[in-house]
Amino acid sequence: MTRLPQSVRSATAGAEVTELHPNRGVSATMNRLVVISNRVPLPSAGPRAGGLAVALDGLMEKRGGLWFGWSGAVSAHAAEQPVQVITHGPVDYATVDLTADEHDRYYNGFSNGVLWPLLHSMPDLVQYDRTDAQIYRDVNARLASQVAPMIGPDDLIWVHDYHLLPLPAALRAQGVANPIGFFLHIPFAAPDMLEAAPDMAELVVGLLAADLIGFQTEGDLANFAAAAMALAGAVRRPGNFLEVAGRRVLLGAFPVEIEPHEFARMAEAHARKLAVVRLRQSLPGQTLILGLDRLDPTKGLLQRMSGLRRLLETQPEWKRRMTLLQIAAISREEVGTYRALRAAIDRESGNINGDFGEPDWLPLRMISHGIDRATAAGFMRTARVGLVTPLRDGMNLVAKEFVAAQNPEDPGVLVLSRFAGAAQQLDAAILVNPHDSDAMAEAMVQAMTMSLSDRKARWNDLWGAIEHRSPLSWGRMFLAALLRGAVRGGKWELVEDDRPPAAMSG
Ligand code: F6P
Repeated sequence: MTRLPQSVRSATAGAEVTELHPNRGVSATMNRLVVISNRVPLPSAGPRAGGLAVALDGLMEKRGGLWFGWSGAVSAHAAEQPVQVITHGPVDYATVDLTADEHDRYYNGFSNGVLWPLLHSMPDLVQYDRTDAQIYRDVNARLASQVAPMIGPDDLIWVHDYHLLPLPAALRAQGVANPIGFFLHIPFAAPDMLEAAPDMAELVVGLLAADLIGFQTEGDLANFAAAAMALAGAVRRPGNFLEVAGRRVLLGAFPVEIEPHEFARMAEAHARKLAVVRLRQSLPGQTLILGLDRLDPTKGLLQRMSGLRRLLETQPEWKRRMTLLQIAAISREEVGTYRALRAAIDRESGNINGDFGEPDWLPLRMISHGIDRATAAGFMRTARVGLVTPLRDGMNLVAKEFVAAQNPEDPGVLVLSRFAGAAQQLDAAILVNPHDSDAMAEAMVQAMTMSLSDRKARWNDLWGAIEHRSPLSWGRMFLAALLRGAVRGGKWELVEDDRPPAAMSG
C-alpha cells in the first residue's frame, strides 16, 4: 500500500512548513484534505448510497478534513447566504444552497441533461441549452469563490465529478495555488462524441488547471487524453503526463472500490432479516434474478427487459421457475429523459407480465422506490443471479457489492455488462452485451443453471479481485499520485515527514 509520508508546500512559499491546518483525529502535520463535490452526504441524512458517497465517506471519516458542496437545499437568496459548517467527528461539512434556477439549470439542465448522457456516450439524449451552460459555469465560479477563503496554504484539494469540471480553473482564478486533484466518477467519452456540446473544449481546458485528473478506467483516461490533445492543444509526455500551456498535468486510472468485508458481514446479517425471509418465501421453487439500479437511461433497464422477454419467448419452460426482481429507484425526475424512461419501463413491465404471466406467477416484479443498503445486501445474498447490465457505466459498485454479498459456499452468479467499468476487474463474471437480447437471455440461463463448482470457481476469482481493496486504498493511491503530480509538475516540493502512516491505515 502507498502511504502518504510527505507534507507538501509551495516552492515559492518560503523556507519552513509551519502550521498545517488543524485536523482533528489525524496527525497535525498531515496536509488537510479538502473534498469538493456537488452532493455532500451530511451525517444527518443517515446511511449513504450512491457511488461517490460510498467511496468517499469512509475515507473522510478516517482521514478527516473539509467537505464542501451543495447542501441539497434550494433557497431564494442562496448566493448571499454564508457557508453553513457542521462538524461531525474529524470532518467539517461546509455547504451552500442553490437557487431554484441554479438547481434547474446547473444540476438538471447542464450536468444531468448534457454532460451525463454525453460522457456516457449517449449524445441522442443530450438536451442542450446555452443558458444552462452559462449557469453551470456561474455556479462553478460561485462555489470557487465561496470555498477559496476556507482553503489554507497547505491543503490538498480533491474535486469530484462532472458537475464541477470548470472548478479547477475557477479555483485558480481565485488565486488558489494548492495541489488540485480531480476525479471523474463517470466515464469519459471519445472526442468526436463530445462535439455535441459546444462548450466541451472550454470545459476540458478548465479541467486541465488541476494537477492530477483521475478516471475509473484506462479507457476513460485514453479518451480524455485524446480530447485534451484535440480540443486543448495538450501534448502527451512520458509517465501519463500531459503538457499544456507550459505546465504538466498527471493522468491516472483509479477504480473506485467498496469495503468488501464490511459489505459481506452486512449481507450475511441481513439475509436472516424479515424482508429477505419474506422475499424468499414468496418465491417457492423459483430462481431469483435480481437487478438493483437507479432508474437511469445508462442502466440499460429496457434492454434488460428485452432480454427477459426473449428468454420467455424462446425457453417457455422457465415459466414459473424464475422471477426477475428489478428495483429501479426513481432518480432525477425533473429531467425529461428520466420521466420518459420511467413511463416506458412501466409500460414494458406491464406488457411482459401481461404477455407471459399466469394467474399464480409473474415473471417480473418492478419496484420504483429504493431500498436501504442493508436490505439490498440481504437480497443480493439470497439471489441466484445478479443482473448488472448498464449500457455504459463509470464503474458500477452494485457489481462489486453483489460479489461481496455472496455466501462463499453457495455463491450466486454475476451477469455483468462489458460496458461497465467494473468489467475490467470482474472479468470472471458472465460478461454480456446488453444490446443483444439473445445474449442476455442466454446469460441468464447460463447463470441459473451453473453448477456449484463453477459458481464457486467464478466467485473465488471475483472475490480475489476486490477483497484486498477499499475506498481507503483508493483514496490513498489518488492522494499519493496527487502529491507526485504536483511535485513533478514543478510548482511544489516535498518535505519529508517522519510521521507514522497510522492516520491513513485501516
Ligand atoms: O458519479 C455518479 C453519481 O454522482 C454517483 O455517485 C451517484 O450514484 C449518482 O451519480 C447520484 O446522482 P445524483 O447526485 O444526481 O442523485
